[in-house]
Amino acid sequence: MKIKNICCIGAGYVGGPTMAVIAQKCPGIKVTVVDLNEARIAAWNDKDVNNIPIYEPGLNEIVGNVRGKNLFFSTDVDKAIDEADLIFISVNTPTKTYGTGKGMAADLKHIELCARQIAKVAKNNKVIVEKSTLPVRTAEALKSILDNTGNGVQFQILSNPEFLAEGTAVEDLLSPDRVLIGGETTPEGQEAIKSLVEVYANWVPRERILTTNVWSSELSKLVANAFLAQRVSSINAISELCEKTEANVSEVARAIGMDSRIGPKFLKASVGFGGSCFQKDILNLVYISKAFGLNEVADYWEQVIIMNDHQKRRFSKNIVQTLYNTVSGKKITFLGWAFKKDTNDTRESAAIYVADDLINEQAKIALFDPKVSQTQVLSDLDYLATRKPAENEKHITSYDNPYDACKNAHAIAILTEWDEFREYDWQRIYDGMLKPAFVFDGRNLLDGEKLKAIGFNFHSIGS
Ligand code: NAD
Ligand code: UGA
Repeated sequence: MKIKNICCIGAGYVGGPTMAVIAQKCPGIKVTVVDLNEARIAAWNDKDVNNIPIYEPGLNEIVGNVRGKNLFFSTDVDKAIDEADLIFISVNTPTKTYGTGKGMAADLKHIELCARQIAKVAKNNKVIVEKSTLPVRTAEALKSILDNTGNGVQFQILSNPEFLAEGTAVEDLLSPDRVLIGGETTPEGQEAIKSLVEVYANWVPRERILTTNVWSSELSKLVANAFLAQRVSSINAISELCEKTEANVSEVARAIGMDSRIGPKFLKASVGFGGSCFQKDILNLVYISKAFGLNEVADYWEQVIIMNDHQKRRFSKNIVQTLYNTVSGKKITFLGWAFKKDTNDTRESAAIYVADDLINEQAKIALFDPKVSQTQVLSDLDYLATRKPAENEKHITSYDNPYDACKNAHAIAILTEWDEFREYDWQRIYDGMLKPAFVFDGRNLLDGEKLKAIGFNFHSIGS
């Protein structure tokens, strides 16, 4: 079957950029991205393409090129389902906050709702693609819903997990290391796989399109994230040892990364990994392992999360201890709130947890992030429910320029590795601060020697 009409349910960080790239690379396919969130769809349709809801370098340009031609954003979910030959499900699958598996299992309610809606609306055979990250064997549940409540039409379910990283989404989508497609081993399953392979083959070399059975594909996504996060926790564990031994974690990372079996990427020590997926996907893996009674497997992976929580906590603890064991009433400036550079996404950002700890110590936090609003910052803190929203509001203030944010501060903490932070006039910042002026670089971003020469009391991770 040749795909002519694609629907994607979920216009988020994955659905939006992925469909924009498919539309650009496949001019013969009509792509419609639908979402229940009216404000989000309105933003995707904003006349000014700079106002689309997701900040990703290069994304506005692509959306500007194809929107209204073969890329459409809509809230009319039923119509898009009805018209499509192939439907991507790209809705959120957060960690459950209630009931069995609370705090660990993936919440699949949005996925199930999509399946039920597809089953209700579909009048002809369709290929359903799991784009969201899901527990292994979810396709079984989807199939059961689709086959039992449908109108007798045939559904093929594929797993096609997304490996893009935020901040480099467009680049990752245009030249992915691999595209993974899992499907049934039946002739119909193989036919469905072929139809999706043909879509990607418009721009991805065939040897990078990997096909497997459904379960390997679903599980590989969780495993890829677990391995990536494990590297960050491994190097962060070593960073603490470096601080005790006068070794330097950047030098150690370089030395081990030159071993081609280890490799140089993903070995940057930091204040801890954030983002919407690493923690949730590892917890999901831990939960699945426990469900099969594999307690040692579960404990092994859970340690990656334990290490990450420790890394965030020890960063805030170090700030308090270095500032003479009290930050009460002191102005501490955060540069960065997003979970990494080049994104406006703040989900699970280490900054949220460091701020929460420091507010518990009665610090006054000033904040500058080039892409994150005060509303978002407050909503992130309120979500933790550590204290009342009014209290959070009293303790944290966003500024729209870094120099005002740093004025009269006791200390600066770098929480996100935005490139522009390197270029600031650090002498000017130093002159405006209280002395001694402290910098805690949670991203090993700044030139420590230069800052020390200016007079800063400089602290980085792992040295
Ligand atoms: P997101 O929260 O940004 O977007 C999901 C969207 O789905 C939301 O806009 C929500 O309103 C919409 N939605 C939920 N239920 C719906 C329904 N029934 N009908 C229509 N719309 C509905 O999430 P995201 O970051 O794009 O992640 C989506 C999935 O992709 C997750 O499973 C995630 O684990 C996975 N993933 C994310 C990334 C990433 O970098 N963010 C990368 C790879 C995989
Ligand atoms: C990650 C994976 O890299 C993607 O392949 C995957 O598709 C995605 O999760 C997902 O499933 O959501 P993302 O979370 O967007 O992508 O960003 P990463 O670049 O992986 O960074 C995650 C966190 O780790 C960030 O807070 C980052 O600062 C931190 N990190 C990363 C380090 O502290 N050190 C490193 O060396 C690398």
